Amino acid sequence: MKRPYRVGILGAGLAAVALLAAGCGTGGVASAGGTPDTSNGQKLFSASCGTCHTLQAAGTTGTIGPNLDNAFAASVAEGYAQSSIENLVLDQIRIGSGTVVTYTTNKKFTAQPTMPANIVKGQDAIDVAAYVASVAGQGGFTSSASFASFGTDGAKIFKGAGCAGCHTLAAAGSTGTVGPNLDQLGSALTVAVVSHQVEVGGGLMPAFQGKLSAAQIQAVAQYVSSSVGKK
Ligand code: HEC
Ligand code: HEC
Repeated sequence: MKRPYRVGILGAGLAAVALLAAGCGTGGVASAGGTPDTSNGQKLFSASCGTCHTLQAAGTTGTIGPNLDNAFAASVAEGYAQSSIENLVLDQIRIGSGTVVTYTTNKKFTAQPTMPANIVKGQDAIDVAAYVASVAGQGGFTSSASFASFGTDGAKIFKGAGCAGCHTLAAAGSTGTVGPNLDQLGSALTVAVVSHQVEVGGGLMPAFQGKLSAAQIQAVAQYVSSSVGKK
């Protein structure tokens, strides 16, 4: 499977989840000592992270960064240890995303939204990471109730339903690397191919049938199919 070509300080984001899936966590939290205070973590998350991230348990709805429930739902479902997720979140807080630039297939550069490093520090960072790890993705992917709010706007569905968190698509400004780079699949992605994939999922991709309506699946398939390789 082809990977997107990423340059920049660090290709963080969902690449981190892929790492987790490969079983390569770091030892960041374990070495810190002390018991994390998740209620402090929750407060700090709401104040410092929620503007950019959706996290159901914290009631935040930011859309600049990935939806953290969707980002971790697959890992939770597959039974990864909470401590692995905690380490991953801590690394992300410490490193941020740097300046991420993606080459699209037609060799244009796209600057991606970035996450600054060290928004919270020291014990506070550990508390936030422990809090996120204790709640993110526990309820699975975003509930069907909130899926309904995306209507039949394909671009909104692509972002909100978590496609963006897992897939690179230049037209959507997304850089996910859990699934294939959709721009690279290009003309293979007919409306029929995409809508089938969205219905049944496969591998680490969840099935969306029953979560997204038939009209929404059609809308996001049309959006992807008409966007691939463009921009
Ligand atoms: C200014 C917006 C912004 C803020 C504030 C922010 N983030 Fe992020 N975050 C992002 C963006 C954008 C990405 C995707 C970066 C990338 O692709 O490398 C990201 C990625 C992540 C990821 C990786 C998710 C994945 O899909 O692998 C985690 C975890 C995360 N942020 C947690 C946090 C936490 C915890 C805080 C608060 C301390 C925070 N973020 C604050 C914008 C933000
Ligand atoms: C948790 C991560 C994840 C999410 C969320 C996700 N995908 Fe995927 N997607 C994948 C993976 C992994 C594959 C590769 C599956 C395989 O190889 O069987 C994939 C494959 C695909 C393909 C390729 C089909 C082909 O014929 O090669 C398309 C198109 C696609 N996804 C579109 C979407 C859309 C649209 C959404 C949102 C409605 C979405 N994905 C949500 C991970 C994800």
